[in-house]
Amino acid sequence: MVKTIPFGDIIVPSPGFGAMGLTFSLGTKLSLEQAEPVLLKAIELGCTFWDTAVVYLAGINEKLLGDFIRKHNARDKVYIASKCGFNYMGGDFTVKHSPAHIREYNEGTIERLGLLDKTKPTIVHTDTPLEESIPALDEIKKAGKTRYIGLSECTAATLRKANSIAKVDAVQAEYSFFETLHETDGLVDTAKELGIMISPLTILDGRFQGENFYKNKAIVDSIRTLAVRKGCTISQIALAWFAAQGMISIPGTTKAHRLAENWASRDVDLTEDEVREMRKIVNAVKPVGNRYSELHQSMVGH
Ligand SMILES: NC(=O)c1ccc[n+]([C@@H]2O[C@H](COP(=O)([O-])OP(=O)(O)OC[C@H]3O[C@@H](n4cnc5c(N)ncnc54)[C@H](OP(=O)(O)O)[C@@H]3O)[C@@H](O)[C@H]2O)c1
Repeated sequence: MVKTIPFGDIIVPSPGFGAMGLTFSLGTKLSLEQAEPVLLKAIELGCTFWDTAVVYLAGINEKLLGDFIRKHNARDKVYIASKCGFNYMGGDFTVKHSPAHIREYNEGTIERLGLLDKTKPTIVHTDTPLEESIPALDEIKKAGKTRYIGLSECTAATLRKANSIAKVDAVQAEYSFFETLHETDGLVDTAKELGIMISPLTILDGRFQGENFYKNKAIVDSIRTLAVRKGCTISQIALAWFAAQGMISIPGTTKAHRLAENWASRDVDLTEDEVREMRKIVNAVKPVGNRYSELHQSMVGH
């Protein structure tokens, strides 16, 4: 049963909350009133490790969270991580990691959200050498405009190199029952070796498109059997599995009842045998399909 996870010099409640779906996924654009139930539920339960990004509708997601925080005087109650790295405000949607972009976007984020706890590029890309982008992030940290630095969707080599330039505190990467690549490409091992927190993405949002639905459903069916035995849901057991490995997940939902369901994953106690059983299921059924389109897929993993 994992309820908190050490991160840097603090301890954070697990699981966290990914805000992307409030204004980004599948064309959703919730108003403050529409988003309030899920955000109020998060505060009520103590689910206060939140993740957003400028790219989630050109600052609208950040503004939504900022408006909520101001209205409910909640800035001191939540930990907020955001991301820069896409020229969304500029309108051409290209990847940008130049120091000027990082500085400018961080200022905008602070204006919309209040002070930041963590900042990072949305994805790591090769448009700017790490020798330029990482010092820019570090300067922001040293200036007290963010407390931690993160990277996203990068390779193990990039993570190691970046961390040799300035301390990297966290890395976000796709990592779920459907995608365990980072267990074998060195990213998870490197993060653990360097003391960098791993935040697995898209744990709940499986690859359920077209033919992949039927192929990947086999994984879900096997895990459901275990969940039924534990008296919990598939989502809860998935989240508990990552928490048991010391990772802070940030499941996203637009619904208060699902946030409560995901939060209750912290009460699921997995025995070592059960963790091993889940591992067997994950290893036995190889997932099919990519999370991203070909274009987006080519942007990640640098
Ligand atoms: N760094 C990056 O590049 C990057 C990329 C992607 C995402 N992220 C971050 O990671 C967070 C999570 O990623 P994600 O939103 O793609 O995936 P996710 O959290 O794994 O899945 C979200 C989806 O699952 C549904 N859901 C949530 N709880 C559920 C439950 N208990 N039962 C059934 N369905 C449930 C949600 O629908 P409802 O809204 O209908 O509940 C939504 O469609 C994002 O919010 C974002 O902050 C970062």
